[in-house]
Amino acid sequence: MDKVRHLIEPLDFTTEELEDLFKLADKIIENPKEYAHECDGKILVTLFYEPSTRTRFSFEAAMIRLGGNVVGFSDPDSSSVTKGENVPDTIRIVSGYADVAVIRHPVEGAPKAASLFSRIPVINAGDGGHQHPTQTLTDLSTIRSKFGRLDNLKIGICGDLKYGRTTHSLVDAMSRYENNSFVFISPDELRMPAYICDELKQKGQTFKEARTIEEGISDVDVFYMTRVQRERFSDLDEYERVKDSCILTPEKMKLAKKDMIILHPLPRVNEIHPDIDDDARAYYFRQAERGMYIRMSLLLHLLNLAGDFCRNNTASEHEVVIAEGEAEMCKNPKCITANESALKHRYYVHRNGVKTCDYCGRIIE
Ligand code: NCD
Repeated sequence: MDKVRHLIEPLDFTTEELEDLFKLADKIIENPKEYAHECDGKILVTLFYEPSTRTRFSFEAAMIRLGGNVVGFSDPDSSSVTKGENVPDTIRIVSGYADVAVIRHPVEGAPKAASLFSRIPVINAGDGGHQHPTQTLTDLSTIRSKFGRLDNLKIGICGDLKYGRTTHSLVDAMSRYENNSFVFISPDELRMPAYICDELKQKGQTFKEARTIEEGISDVDVFYMTRVQRERFSDLDEYERVKDSCILTPEKMKLAKKDMIILHPLPRVNEIHPDIDDDARAYYFRQAERGMYIRMSLLLHLLNLAGDFCRNNTASEHEVVIAEGEAEMCKNPKCITANESALKHRYYVHRNGVKTCDYCGRIIE
C-alpha cells in the first residue's frame, strides 16, 4: 500500500518534490483542460474552523477543476464541533468519507494532530500563528515564475511577523535554498519569534531586523507584506498601537529596486496603498490566482495521481519522541496539546540537542 503523505509544514517536502509540484502547476496553467478529469470520483473535505476566502475557495475550485467533488464546513458552528467533538475523532470520521482533507484551525498543531489519526492525506491550511504551508507553495511558485530561481535572493518580510503564520512558513521554506537572506521589518512588538530567529542562527542563515520600511526595502528582490493579525491579539489596545506601523506607500516604493516584486498573502487592510496596485511590481493578485493551480498540483501529488511522489518520501521522517515527564511537555498555551488533553505530547530532538514540539514547533524549555 502506498504511504499516506501529509502537508503540515513546508519542510514535509524535499526541495526536489517542491520542484515537481511547481513544474506540474506550470503545466496546468498552460493547459488546464488536460487535467479536467484527473480527480473524477475523488472527494475533498474542507474543515475550516477559522474564516477564509482565498485558501478555501482556491482549494474547492482546484478540486472541482480536476473533476472531483467537495464536502465540508466553513463554520465549525454548523458541525459536531459545537457538541464537543475533538480533532482526532473528526478526522477519523471524515477519513471514511473523503480522499483528502484540508484543515484550518485557530489552535497551533491541530492539523498535525489530525494527521496522526487520519487514513487520508491531511493538508494544513493554517494553524493559529504557526504555519501556512500551502500559502508558501503559492509564494514560492510566484517568486520562481518571476526570477526563474529560488536561491540567491534577498527577501524583505514586513508587518506582523509575530502572529503572521505565512511569514513563518516562508522563512522555513526559503532558508533551504542557497544564499538567500532576509530582512525582517516590523515594530518591536511584532518581531519574528525568537524560536524562529534562533533556528536561523543555528543554520548560519543571514538575516537582519529593521523597524521601518525605509530602512529595509532598498535592496530586496521580494518584499513580502502582511496584515497585522487582529484576531490573535489578547490585548486589543496593543493592536491599536501597532496596527498602522508599517504601511507601504508609492513614496516608499521609490526606494525599492526596479525589478523587485511585492507579495502579500491577502487579505490586506491598509498596509499597501491602493495606488500601488498599478505598479508593475505589485504581484499579489496574480500570486493569489496562482494559488489555485499550485493547489491543483498539490492535490494530484497527494492523491498519488502524479507519478511516484507518495512512494519515495523520506523528507518528513524525523525521529519523534513521546514525552514522558512534565519537563518534556510543550508549554505553549496555544498548542493543541494544551487544548486536547488526551493527545500524547511529542517532540523532536534537533542535532544540537534542542527539543521542539512536534505539533506547534515551539522549543521545549
Ligand atoms: C493568510 C492567513 O490566513 O494566514 N491568508 C491567506 O490564507 N491567504 C494571511 C492573513 O490572514 O493575513
